[in-house]
Amino acid sequence: MRRPLAVALTTLLSSSAAAVPYAEYILAPSQRDLSPVKVHQANGTVINAAEVTTSGSGGTTFNSVSAVTYDYTKNIGGLVSFIVSSSSDSEQYIGISYTESSLWISPDGSDATQNIAIDETLWFKITGPGNYSVEPLHDRGGFRYLNVYHNTTGNVTLSHLQTYFTAMPHFPDDGIGEYTGYFHSNDEKLNRVWYAGAYTDQLCTIPSTAGNSLVDLDATDPNTPTVWWSNSTLTNGSSAFTDGPKRDKLVWPGDFAISVPGVFLSTDDAITVKLSLQQLFASQNATTGALPWFAQPIYVFPENSFINFGKVVFSFNYHLFTLLGLHNYWIYTGDDEYLQQNWNRFKLALNYSLSFVDETGLANVTSSFDWLREGMGGHNIEANSILKHTLDVAVTLAYAVNDTSHIASWKNSSATIVSAANTLLWDSSASLYKDNETTTLHPQDGNVWSIISGVASANQSTDISSALAARWGPYGAPAPEAGTTVSPFITGFELQAHFLAGQPQRAIELMQFMWADFMLDDPRMTNSTYIEGYDTSGALHYPAYADDARISHAHGWSSGPVLALSTFAVGLHVLNATNWIAHPQPGNLTNVEAGFKVDHGTYSGNYSVTAKGASYVLSTPPGTKGSLVLDTPGCNASVKVTGSDVGGKHGKKFSWVKQVHGHKGVASTPWKCGVWGPSPPAHQDGSAGTITIDNLAGGNYTVDIVCS
Ligand SMILES: *[C@@H]1O[C@H](CO)[C@@H](O)[C@H](O)[C@H]1NC(C)=O
Ligand SMILES: *[C@@H]1O[C@H](CO)[C@@H](O)[C@H](O)[C@H]1NC(C)=O
Ligand SMILES: *[C@@H]1O[C@H](CO)[C@@H](O)[C@H](O)[C@H]1NC(C)=O
Ligand SMILES: *[C@@H]1O[C@H](CO)[C@@H](O)[C@H](O)[C@H]1NC(C)=O
Ligand SMILES: *[C@@H]1O[C@H](CO)[C@@H](O)[C@H](O)[C@H]1NC(C)=O
Ligand SMILES: *[C@@H]1O[C@H](CO)[C@@H](O)[C@H](O)[C@H]1NC(C)=O
Ligand SMILES: *[C@@H]1O[C@H](CO)[C@@H](O)[C@H](O)[C@H]1NC(C)=O
Ligand SMILES: *[C@@H]1O[C@H](CO)[C@@H](O)[C@H](O)[C@H]1NC(C)=O
Ligand SMILES: *[C@@H]1O[C@H](CO)[C@@H](O)[C@H](O)[C@H]1NC(C)=O
Ligand SMILES: *[C@@H]1O[C@H](CO)[C@@H](O)[C@H](O)[C@H]1NC(C)=O
Ligand SMILES: *[C@@H]1O[C@H](CO)[C@@H](O)[C@H](O)[C@H]1NC(C)=O
Ligand SMILES: *[C@@H]1O[C@H](CO)[C@@H](O)[C@H](O)[C@H]1NC(C)=O
Repeated sequence: MRRPLAVALTTLLSSSAAAVPYAEYILAPSQRDLSPVKVHQANGTVINAAEVTTSGSGGTTFNSVSAVTYDYTKNIGGLVSFIVSSSSDSEQYIGISYTESSLWISPDGSDATQNIAIDETLWFKITGPGNYSVEPLHDRGGFRYLNVYHNTTGNVTLSHLQTYFTAMPHFPDDGIGEYTGYFHSNDEKLNRVWYAGAYTDQLCTIPSTAGNSLVDLDATDPNTPTVWWSNSTLTNGSSAFTDGPKRDKLVWPGDFAISVPGVFLSTDDAITVKLSLQQLFASQNATTGALPWFAQPIYVFPENSFINFGKVVFSFNYHLFTLLGLHNYWIYTGDDEYLQQNWNRFKLALNYSLSFVDETGLANVTSSFDWLREGMGGHNIEANSILKHTLDVAVTLAYAVNDTSHIASWKNSSATIVSAANTLLWDSSASLYKDNETTTLHPQDGNVWSIISGVASANQSTDISSALAARWGPYGAPAPEAGTTVSPFITGFELQAHFLAGQPQRAIELMQFMWADFMLDDPRMTNSTYIEGYDTSGALHYPAYADDARISHAHGWSSGPVLALSTFAVGLHVLNATNWIAHPQPGNLTNVEAGFKVDHGTYSGNYSVTAKGASYVLSTPPGTKGSLVLDTPGCNASVKVTGSDVGGKHGKKFSWVKQVHGHKGVASTPWKCGVWGPSPPAHQDGSAGTITIDNLAGGNYTVDIVCS
């Protein structure tokens, strides 16, 4: 693939960029030409199968009917090519197939992109020595296993086998792993979880011209492998942020509600987010304001039934996720101009959502499309919580664009949703909200969103957090609204909900057993990227799909721990380009730190348990300001905050000291977590809740908590 000059220049510039700490955890490859790492399995007569892996030097012969499955040991994506050094004659064939999970390794095809059957093997007629390459339309965005199959008598010898890594196309060839963010803690599982989340988002960032894998969805024969390709153009630039690199390879806004912050916290890839967001807004219905379930590609040929279906489908929540995506983009970029450009679209869209609100004060959802759950209708708690949250976001954005005319009415609608939802949908006997008035089902999605949005009060949040945790199974948090499904997407929001409910240890535990023990370490996984969903039994079955081989093993919507760890555990909450809240919630971690660089500056936080208490070192950009929020210690303590070079002024110091009464009976951790919602917490000095210091100028601060 040829590199444009601009990218070549970036390469030169990037070599001088300072490396972020903990780069050894980064899963992104250091260059684009990737040979397989090892042989997973060989069948038939293969001589020197490992010679075309990274540990060999070329010369693998396939004799008669034989096959080798190569293992990249992590999920990758791109264009395969190989060099044939000799063949017995000019009537030989080599077939290539791909899978993310080891479950679907087969000479007859790849794992699936369509709804039925597996994807066909790509065949090459070997006429003699030479280079053989997969065409660009067969850019396979996600695979760990690469199967090479020889189906005839005679022989073929390969001297080289590689994949040209195509994800992150706009990053320098040797700078795919140049992260702007990092994370580290005393828990190795969480360290791997964060980096796999960041890498999942990178694999989802594909070349703009390699989009849309849903080309043969009408296929009906489960026994005939389907044709597959991806050559739609998704954005007006070189990259696109898609749901998944194998499938669908489309821009879906559900992902933007959770993986966009993860992108900023790890690679600061603002341009891809902007291009992709723009494509969502471009598909807005100018009359109604309805935003699409997924973005229409810029160019797709031939016509395709699913893409056309996308033109008419409306999803109440996905519509709002595009608006939340714009907010997420704006928070980290401070791009007021872009916000202003889309502001009328934002208002039109929000107005459309409000048109569903009836006399109860709640929206009555009339479209069933959501994240593949069922029963998304009526006065649904998830939809109304997300609407309430979007109204609050709208108020924030309205101030930023100086358009205050709707603020009173949006605030009113937001408050009405809270009271109506609590009257109609709160089930105090279960300490959970019902899905709607006519059911006893208590959904995961609506309950976690009730906490994030502030539909639930602080006390309700505490109870919901306990009730949700009580439902966990061995493989994760269930989403009963979708049958027997575990949804890492919704559970990514559940992580935030536990932190917001003052229960960080629950979020940490969930990441440990669900994301690390199962989603990384289970041998059916890629050990590097996150699956989109599975069954509560641990079966890799997602109810929406007839064909289990279709499940994507790299889905940005499952990368929620990146946000949960950097923002919540380490406590670096960026509110906008000028304001932040620092509130570490380490649970029982003894050390946890993170940092990231965005357009307006660099943030870092480092919490550690010390011999007599705990310390927290914080750095925020000059020119910003914020609040430091500390959970009341678990001991009577002296809390001392010192600052240096405050507000970017050399030598300017800050000092604050207070004796505080600790929480009783929390000996296990020096910091007992208070409850705080999405808006800054109330000041509560003393024995309960949190200690807040407002109006801190951006700079470096050290907090020392010394138990007395
Ligand atoms: C491949 O087949 C040719 C023709 O039968 C034979 O001469 C050659 O020895 C074989 N090569 C290997 C490596 O088996
Ligand atoms: C290897 O052989 C086994 C057993 O026959 C079969 O299940 C598997 O699909 C084969 N794998 C390849 C890559 O040919
Ligand atoms: C090998 O595969 C090619 C491509 O599918 C096919 O044309 C050929 O008939 C196969 N050969 C044998 C012996 O199965
Ligand atoms: C916009 O929505 C209206 C109402 O659903 C529909 O009639 C119209 O066709 C849509 N316009 C476009 C361009 O899709
Ligand atoms: C995509 O590939 C298919 C299959 O080769 C081809 O028919 C189609 O014209 C291509 N479309 C584009 C946009 O290149
Ligand atoms: C209310 O929720 C239940 C449980 O999810 C669901 O079966 C039902 O269809 C929902 N009602 C509507 C109108 O969608
Ligand atoms: C929601 O609207 C639909 C369609 O207008 C209506 O049939 C249904 O009764 C309404 N649901 C509620 C809970 O009001
Ligand atoms: C940034 O957030 C702070 C705190 O919420 C707010 O006071 C300020 O007005 C915001 N700035 C902009 C540009 O929205
Ligand atoms: C909003 O008004 C403030 C103060 O007048 C100004 O600094 C800012 O640039 C305006 N923002 C926009 C987007 O117009
Ligand atoms: C999974 O990947 C990690 C590196 O991220 C590696 O240390 C570990 O050995 C791998 N596990 C397996 C089972 O390969
Ligand atoms: C944190 O708590 C969990 C149980 O919630 C426990 O398994 C783990 O060992 C604890 N870790 C530390 C460092 O205390
Ligand atoms: C502030 O903290 C950052 C991050 O740790 C560090 O790079 C910088 O040198 C510190 N500045 C001062 C003045 O201490």
